[in-house]
Amino acid sequence: MTLKRTHNCGELTIKNEDTEVILNGWVDTRRDLGGVIFIDLRDRHGLTQIVFSPQDNPEAHAKADQLRSEYVIGVKGYVRKRDEENINPNLHTGEVEVRVHDLKIYSKANTPPFEVKDDVKANEDIRLKYRYLDLRRPQMQNNLMLRSKVYETVRSYFYQHDFAEIETPFLMRSTPEGARDYLVPSRVNPGKFFALPQSPQTYKQVLMVSGMDRYFQIVKCFRDEDLRADRQPEFTQIDVEMSFVDEEDVYRMTEGMMAKVLSQTVGVDVEVPFNRMSYQDAIETYGTDKPDTRFGLKFVDFSDIVKESEFRIFSKTVADGGAVVGFVVPGLGKLGRGVMDKLTKRAQDEIGAGGLIYIKNNEDELYSSVGKFVAEETTQQMVEQAGAEKGDLILIFAGAKPSVYQQLGDLRLMMAREYDLIDTSQNHLLWVTDFPLLEYDPDDGRYYAMHHPFTSPHPNDMDLLESQPEKARARAYDLVMNGSEIGGGSIRIHNPNVQQQMFNALGIDEEEAREKFGFLLEAFQYGAPPHGGIALGLDRLVMLLAGAQSLRDVIAFPKNQRAQSLMDSCPSVVDEEQLKELHIQLRPGVLADDDK
Ligand code: AMO
Repeated sequence: MTLKRTHNCGELTIKNEDTEVILNGWVDTRRDLGGVIFIDLRDRHGLTQIVFSPQDNPEAHAKADQLRSEYVIGVKGYVRKRDEENINPNLHTGEVEVRVHDLKIYSKANTPPFEVKDDVKANEDIRLKYRYLDLRRPQMQNNLMLRSKVYETVRSYFYQHDFAEIETPFLMRSTPEGARDYLVPSRVNPGKFFALPQSPQTYKQVLMVSGMDRYFQIVKCFRDEDLRADRQPEFTQIDVEMSFVDEEDVYRMTEGMMAKVLSQTVGVDVEVPFNRMSYQDAIETYGTDKPDTRFGLKFVDFSDIVKESEFRIFSKTVADGGAVVGFVVPGLGKLGRGVMDKLTKRAQDEIGAGGLIYIKNNEDELYSSVGKFVAEETTQQMVEQAGAEKGDLILIFAGAKPSVYQQLGDLRLMMAREYDLIDTSQNHLLWVTDFPLLEYDPDDGRYYAMHHPFTSPHPNDMDLLESQPEKARARAYDLVMNGSEIGGGSIRIHNPNVQQQMFNALGIDEEEAREKFGFLLEAFQYGAPPHGGIALGLDRLVMLLAGAQSLRDVIAFPKNQRAQSLMDSCPSVVDEEQLKELHIQLRPGVLADDDK
């Protein structure tokens, strides 16, 4: 006979006093006090203290002696008020306990390799190997519950706005742009491969040509790229596409969704519309296309002031088309020589800067680290240009564009983290707009689409496509939250002639275009509506909402940094027979000896 629960472990309060209840759950902690056994019983909802005493029920008490961490049990007992000194005000159930008179042990458990609690000491590989134990931790359970709430809110929002949820294939044609594809061999088509989608981009565009008008999907995407804390090889997008729209429609729809998600999942109200910033402004002011605007340290360009300086690093940098840029850190003029030397070393080692120049605008002294070479008047002008107050520090890099901006952006983040300048109680949402259409790759000697080849050029920049392709802007946008890129999209090309011009700019000839994207181009020949959309990184969004540091903390079964799943040990070696069926032969020596 199972003891079927009447309540969950996070539910009972003094209102339930003296009622008989049944709880099910896992043994969290166990204390034996003077012959009375106290256990915290855990489930997804919380903890409840249960008590086995020989006075209440000798039989249950005797049986409880066997209980160890992570045993799964059912208990029946009476809810009683705890003694005054045992009340735990931090726990919803902290005023009561259940005095047990019936115990059923459903499962015993081996001693777990780490304690199931939030400040877990085990290293991440162990946590990933025993993921089911890791997922029992309240923090992880909250993260997954939050994630589930995000799905629910997103779905209900799009349904309310007349979107259709449509699944697109996981087995698709390999498309060469972007990251590397995960390939899947076809048994019935020897020598041929499917690719797992890096995103449903082409399918959602075809759905617009199909007249579906408004599409969304919460969908897995697969990219074989190098991993970081905010990248997983398989991740989830909230993928959206709309017909007969321009940027403003996509912004409005996305802002509404974000506002609803934030208010319904973490109770935060955000202001709409979100701020906007052009790509160029973002780079020149924050050194990144995903600026964290929760703190200042905005860049100041000193190039004009120093272009004629006798200090060659300044004047030559500007003459060579580079920039001398910096930012003010309020109140840090007091930092000593030793700290500044360390910072300089970090700027060189971690950021790759040539060197760090700084000015301390202190009450008693205006100090420049290059004061020996730069006229005091110039330094004074720089202080004024930067709007630095007494006591402030100015950090400066001189270098080629655009790398000098990126390096200064890294320094800005480093300083903000180091000196705790980020107001983490805020949520800043920002559209970054007017991305360049193309990116030049000097190694390959050709342009690549910065977003993807179906992104519409800015109508005013069509002429630039041929004359100065790198200057042409795209109708592309990213959504940035607290310095993280959580989404990106664009208005697409729907006119075959414009698409042809885009392919020309990318150096893709007609045959190649037909081979790679023929089906889409062909679809456009049969009546394509103007359309555009966006995809949001759901894992990244949940990570930010949860305040987690890694995507792995908001994905039930993530891959580690080596793209492996340690729980089920994959990827793994497969049988010779399986490979044969797939017409695949491994190159000799590719398997490590311990894999054979
Ligand atoms: P994009 O490539 O910018 O656009 O991806 C959209 C968003 O997905 C998230 N993301 C990732 N999250 C975790 N791990 C990864 N490896 C990873 N890669 C991307 C980011 C990113 O902003 N088809 C287009 C969208 C469109 O044009 O509509 C696309 O996929 O948060």
